[in-house]
Order: sequence, then structure tokens, then C-alpha cells
Amino acid sequence: MVLQSIFWKDGKILIIDQTKLPDKLEYISLDTVNDVAEAIINMRVRGAPLIGVTGALGLALVAYKNRNKSSDELIKLLNEAKEILEKTRPTAVNLFWALKQVYETAIKTRGNVEKIISSALDILKNDITINKKIADIGSELIEDGDVILTHCNTGSLATVSIGTALGVILEAYRKGKRFKVFITETRPKLQGARLTAFELVTAGLKPYLIVDSAVAYTVKTMGVNKIFVGADRILRDGTTYNKIGTLQIALAAKKFGSKFYVVAPSSTFDLHSSREDIKVEERDPNEIRVIGNKYITVKDINVYNPAFDETPPDMIDAFITEYGIIEKPFEENIINKLS
Ligand code: MRU
Repeated sequence: MVLQSIFWKDGKILIIDQTKLPDKLEYISLDTVNDVAEAIINMRVRGAPLIGVTGALGLALVAYKNRNKSSDELIKLLNEAKEILEKTRPTAVNLFWALKQVYETAIKTRGNVEKIISSALDILKNDITINKKIADIGSELIEDGDVILTHCNTGSLATVSIGTALGVILEAYRKGKRFKVFITETRPKLQGARLTAFELVTAGLKPYLIVDSAVAYTVKTMGVNKIFVGADRILRDGTTYNKIGTLQIALAAKKFGSKFYVVAPSSTFDLHSSREDIKVEERDPNEIRVIGNKYITVKDINVYNPAFDETPPDMIDAFITEYGIIEKPFEENIINKLS
């Protein structure tokens, strides 16, 4: 069974509240644009493709609720909602991309509610087909006996369904390939321990969970030969922003001879920005100071809590996208495949 992390139902958005996993698999309803913003900020939904889809449905919600307003009024409300949603999380480009798609439909159709909703639903449906394609292409890289490592959560819970890097691993397993998988805990929000562990175990795999600081030693000693990670934003030269910890995994891969693959849909590529334009999100210091309800450190300790890092293109072997595998030279091949 593949989980679907988000639904549009009778003018409401239903999401799995990921903060409750793995204890409880619970769908909650988002009824206003502020509910949508809150869910993204507090990571009830997370993962680049999924926050894009959630943002798009957030605009659909505004259109649905204001379907009797004049087209000028509706476009003004959509613009306000778009600005609220754009302020939620800065790094994953999918959110900005999806909001732009739906907002442009609103402008082009002079506020046609049906068309606005269907443009958001197209983003949702396309995410499923695109990820199936990526999973199919990427799974061909996996062979029996491989030792794989993945980081954070890039599965059904980071997309609408199936996932990107985790989708590749799950699809290879579904095709009958047998291999070992290491998953990182992913401090401080524990997406690996809470979400990836849940998804893989539910699918019948038996992953090994490691703390983030065990990555280099695991790659060195456990025979890791293929690493698959997702991405929040990929620049035209291949520079990749992904969950904090990705860079040190790439360094370990380079040093100890593992392949390092970045798996992402075309909507994660940002062909127009450069490194100086990208804002790496820094999150609340208490995500690090507190576990459960308990401080695990000195209460007012200074904290640096970047949510993402930047991996240089020379450390990446290839990108796996719905348009196929992109190898070096990246800039030339990314532009050829994706523009
Ligand atoms: O902070 P998160 O959990 O939203 O970060 C998620 C990641 O970094 C994922 O690797 C990335 O979004 C790709 S998900 C298919």
C-alpha cells in the first residue's frame, strides 16, 4: 500500500499530520490559508514537492471559499494568500514554483475558480505520475547486494505519493531486488527516524537506523556503494540544497568511493537563481535544545540551526529526474533536458 499524504476533498485540504508520526497516522483538515501556512511552518507537511502541492491547494482553497466574489477581489485575495504562503519556508523552490503556476492561472483566466482549482489539482496529480517515472528510472541503478544509504525523508510523506529518493529504493525492492539500507536519524526533526523508518518498515524492508554522526564511519566500514538523497533546490550548475547533513554524506561518499545520486523532479530545479540568491532556512533554536518537553542542554546556549546545506556539483554523480538521468557536464545537460 502506498500512502497518499494529501487530498483535496469537497473544498477542504486533508493532510497527514506528520508531527504525530510514527505514533499516530492521522489526517487533519486545513480550512483556511492560515491553517495551510501553520502546517507548512510547523512541518505538519514537509518535503519540497509536498509543500509545493500544499501551497497550490492553499490557493485553491482561497478561490473555492471566495467563489462568489468579483474577479478583481478574488485575485487580490489570492495575491495576499500567495504572499502569506511564500513567507512560510524559504529554501525549497517547489513552493514558489507551485504558487506561481496557480496564481498565473488565476490571472490568465480572470479568476475562473474552476480553472484555479484544477491547476492546483494538476500539480497534485502530476506529482504522482512524475514520481512513478523517477522511481522506475532510478530503481534500474540498484542491484542485488547493494548497500544503500539515504537521508531525511523523501518518500510518500515528502511528496503526494511514492516519493523521490525513497521512491527509487522502494521501487527497486518492489521489483524484487534485495539490498541493505541505512537511514539517518536526521536531527533535529528526526525525519529519518520517524518517517523514513515508518515508510520502509511498512513496505516490508528492514532498514538500519544510524545517528547522523555515524555516516562517515558507516560509509567507510559497511560497504555503502550507493547513496540516494532528495533535494529542495538545484541550481543550473548542479549545486544542490538539501536537508542539513547532505554535504557531509557527499564528502564521505567522495572519500570512501560510494556513488552519490540526487533524486528530484524538474520542479526542484531553479535555472534562474545563483548561490547568493538562496536563503537557507534557519529554524528555532529550541528544536536543538529541547527533546520532547525537556531541555537537553544549557537553556540559553547559543544555537546555529540551518535546516539545509549546499552540496557542490563536483561531489554529485548524477541527478535522477522524470526526464531521465542527468550526468556531467551538469550545466549543459541540465539545460538541455529541462528547459
Ligand atoms: O525540512 P524538510 O523535512 O522539509 O526537508 C526535506 C528534505 O530536505 C528532503 O530531502 C527534500 O525536501 C526532498 S523531498 C522529496
